[in-house]
Amino acid sequence: MELRLPKDFFMGAAMSGPQTEGAYRTGGKLENIWDTWSDLSISDFYNKVGSYVGNNFYEKYEEDIKLFKSLGLDSFRTSIQWSRLMDQDQKLNPEGADFYHKVCACAKEQRIELFMNLYHFDMPAYLFRKGGWENREVVEAYATYARTAFREFGKEITYWFTFNEPIVEPDQRYRDGLWYPFIQDAKRGMAVQYHLSLAHCLAVREFQKAKEEGFLLPEAKIGLINCFAPPYTKEDPSPEDLEALRMEDGVKNRWWLDLVAEGRLPKDILETLKDSGLLPDIRPGDEQILAMGRVDWLGFNYYHPSRVQAPREKFDQKGYPKYADAYVWPEAKMNIYRGWEIYPKGIYDFGMKMKEEYPNLKFFISENGMGVEHEDRFRDKEGQIQDDYRIEFVKEHLEWILKAIQDGAKCMGYHYWGLIDNWSWNNAFKNRYGMVEVDLAGNYQRRWKKSAAWIQEVIRAREQEIS
Ligand code: BG6
Repeated sequence: MELRLPKDFFMGAAMSGPQTEGAYRTGGKLENIWDTWSDLSISDFYNKVGSYVGNNFYEKYEEDIKLFKSLGLDSFRTSIQWSRLMDQDQKLNPEGADFYHKVCACAKEQRIELFMNLYHFDMPAYLFRKGGWENREVVEAYATYARTAFREFGKEITYWFTFNEPIVEPDQRYRDGLWYPFIQDAKRGMAVQYHLSLAHCLAVREFQKAKEEGFLLPEAKIGLINCFAPPYTKEDPSPEDLEALRMEDGVKNRWWLDLVAEGRLPKDILETLKDSGLLPDIRPGDEQILAMGRVDWLGFNYYHPSRVQAPREKFDQKGYPKYADAYVWPEAKMNIYRGWEIYPKGIYDFGMKMKEEYPNLKFFISENGMGVEHEDRFRDKEGQIQDDYRIEFVKEHLEWILKAIQDGAKCMGYHYWGLIDNWSWNNAFKNRYGMVEVDLAGNYQRRWKKSAAWIQEVIRAREQEIS
């Protein structure tokens, strides 16, 4: 396999506002759902490190953006925190806006392209108390927030994204009950998933309006980022296993792909949901809203595949039909710290699926990375973390991306997730993702790991073989 990063293949860093900024009560920032959970039960967070800290990006954004430049990166994705930009009356918070203007100005000065996402699992607490994504009023509030952001930063940002991983909150908070408010209810999960879809579409509508009215740069683009874990089942599947695969792929992947490529939700999935009593409340006029969901391009976060089989139990504890159980592939190679399978070929399979089924939709790898616990073990005599495992991980994924491009996938670039160690939700700083270490005991000082120098070389050698 020949390994050349094409000249126009961009390389960047992915992070998010709530995982990096810290300063959770500075500059008029409101409480968000992570602050609520941290206040309620701090022992749910690894080492009792709640949502307050981030990696101090609020203070260190200039240093970080310069660091990206020194690595040779082209772009950087973060998110605006809704709870920082807006006040409780859904008006702009000038102090919050000021911070993001400074980030934009710094990125411009360093010639780092900013990719700005509007939502990364960070619902403002006052809206969560109104029912969060279960309430359509909150969908409207999100559209107001998106409109405000487009108009405020329209001349400073080219690349916009409505959501990061809109599948995660329905799953983690409402179906699997792993994140606050710990609900396990497939019906409520579906309502949340549907409302997130409408919210995405309303934000795209606001984007188009802002563009028509001259608030945006003419070349501005809108996208959606999701984790499309390519689904697989057993090698010799039963019809029930194949049905589990259809539903897994339909609810988690095709749902969003059809929405952003075709402006509708997959009909076969809606039918199955209807038969199962799980159909969300689809109202007159919604079809027109969904039709506005088409985007310019897509962000594909890839960490692991999804392997499913027919469910052992037909119904869940609430009496709704179950559509799939997890299947552990005996040959799986695991990231034992995160409990995720490492399967670089999945990125290629997704690329081929895009080529076949959504040939007009360009995409980029918007997150990919490896979180490892106790990286202190890997320090050399000079104190540098020798993260060869991370180099191997990224190299293998880049190889498969390049093969996908050679075979016709429209993959435009790659963002490494957590380029600088950041706060991983309730895992806090347990698994470190960074190519750059953050010293929590030493004033959040940044220090290169071995992989930082490696990626710098990869970028320098674009159009040459990766060594
Ligand atoms: C992605 C999210 O799902 O995975 C990030 O967009 C997240 O916010 C990343 O941090 C890695 O997952 P985790 O749970 O190990 O931090």
